[in-house]
Amino acid sequence: MIMSMNILLLLYFFIAPSAAWIGEKGAHRPSTNLFALTPDEQRKMAMVRSIQMQFYKSAASEGAVIDKDTGVIPELPLWRVPWTELPGRSNVLHVHEAVYTNMFETVLYGKKPWYIGHINRGTADNSKVATWHARPRTPSAVVGTLLEIVDYRRFEDGRLLILVQALERFVVNKVVQELPYGVASVQLLPDMEEIDPDLTWTERTEREIRGPRAAAIQDSFQTYHNFEYDEAFELPVPDRADLSISDIYGPSLALILPFAPLSKTANACQDVSGGVKVDATVQPNLTHAIIEDAQPCLEGQLLDRGILQYPSKSAESMGDLEVKIWLALDRFLKRTKTPVSPALLGILPPVKEWPSDFALRKIADEIANRTDVRHNYVAIAPHFPAHRRCRLLSFSAANVLEDKKDEREKSQMRQKLLEIASTRGRMMYVLEQFKQENDEHLGEYQ
Ligand SMILES: *[C@@H]1O[C@H](CO)[C@@H](O)[C@H](O)[C@H]1NC(C)=O
Ligand SMILES: *[C@@H]1O[C@H](CO)[C@@H](O)[C@H](O)[C@H]1NC(C)=O
Repeated sequence: MIMSMNILLLLYFFIAPSAAWIGEKGAHRPSTNLFALTPDEQRKMAMVRSIQMQFYKSAASEGAVIDKDTGVIPELPLWRVPWTELPGRSNVLHVHEAVYTNMFETVLYGKKPWYIGHINRGTADNSKVATWHARPRTPSAVVGTLLEIVDYRRFEDGRLLILVQALERFVVNKVVQELPYGVASVQLLPDMEEIDPDLTWTERTEREIRGPRAAAIQDSFQTYHNFEYDEAFELPVPDRADLSISDIYGPSLALILPFAPLSKTANACQDVSGGVKVDATVQPNLTHAIIEDAQPCLEGQLLDRGILQYPSKSAESMGDLEVKIWLALDRFLKRTKTPVSPALLGILPPVKEWPSDFALRKIADEIANRTDVRHNYVAIAPHFPAHRRCRLLSFSAANVLEDKKDEREKSQMRQKLLEIASTRGRMMYVLEQFKQENDEHLGEYQ
């Protein structure tokens, strides 16, 4: 078994599919001849670019800034497409629609970090940006994912190639701008366990929850992201003025997908000093707060409206669920002979003794030793907080099931993963998905 898994891993390294890089949608794949410009077109393009540069420089703003007292981003540009992105993932976007080229250019001319919001607008092209106040259901989702642009290239003809990593989820609170592209005020949403491990807070008021929520968001950005995202993550594409689509080598892009690699440097060092404390004596600045102090807390309201999903009740600890997911993943990968991304194996928990037929630990150890192939395996620091490691797993583990689903089912599963309120609830949902898959195929393989 291990032999064949290894061969599959090697296949993953060398001939991994190159289609995913065009933002998931193979349909937009351009043909090479579209990109060959005549000398006349090149001159025109150079002129257009210089005008553009003047324009974006003068329009450049502060960019999207996270308010530390509330975890609200008052002005987040929204990239609205008919699928869902999940925290922990990476993607390479090929931006060619005029509206979104305009949006991405505006962001890139602004200050770093370059944030955009990703939101599933459903399949209706003309749907409006929806907010959480606007239930019953609108076709457009109101819970989305915060993306950070970490690298980009401009093609000769003005199109963009953008490398993003998905960080956190948010809920849309208010529409700031509808056209030419959506801009909204959004509230970042940590998992329930990050705010209160006892999960008692759904009945609490906003006043009680606001502080712990803001502290959890600060922990994510100030501490955990340093481990979860590699600061050296970049596009394996040359940086030149006359870049064209033919300069892009699919297999090298496949190496940076579908998960954002863990940080090599942070995971090699010893200190995880998270734990931002809420100082009750300091008055937070509530300019950007989205609900009144005395109202039920935001999460409670979102659960009531069915915008966030209640986790099913379970007596199992997060640690038990984590091990069960890895065992299910191991079984599934062996049965289907699916290649696994080395990046995912980096979050294997420090379990002393796995069952003897558990292959993924051995594969991870072998990859760790390899210097002859490029891979994005990085072992997460053993002292990295377990709840955060579980959160990464809960968003990523079901990725291998996506090939078994059609576009609609895949989109539904991802959106559900995004909307489940707690890490534990998400882990239970993932286990159910594996169980269903395995049950459906029970007859075939026994
Ligand atoms: C609170 O934040 C707003 C917006 O960020 C700012 O304009 C205002 O000056 C701040 N107020 C205080 C008291 O710091
Ligand atoms: C990895 O390398 C170390 C040190 O060279 C060695 O002790 C270990 O057995 C190797 N592990 C695997 C799985 O090859």
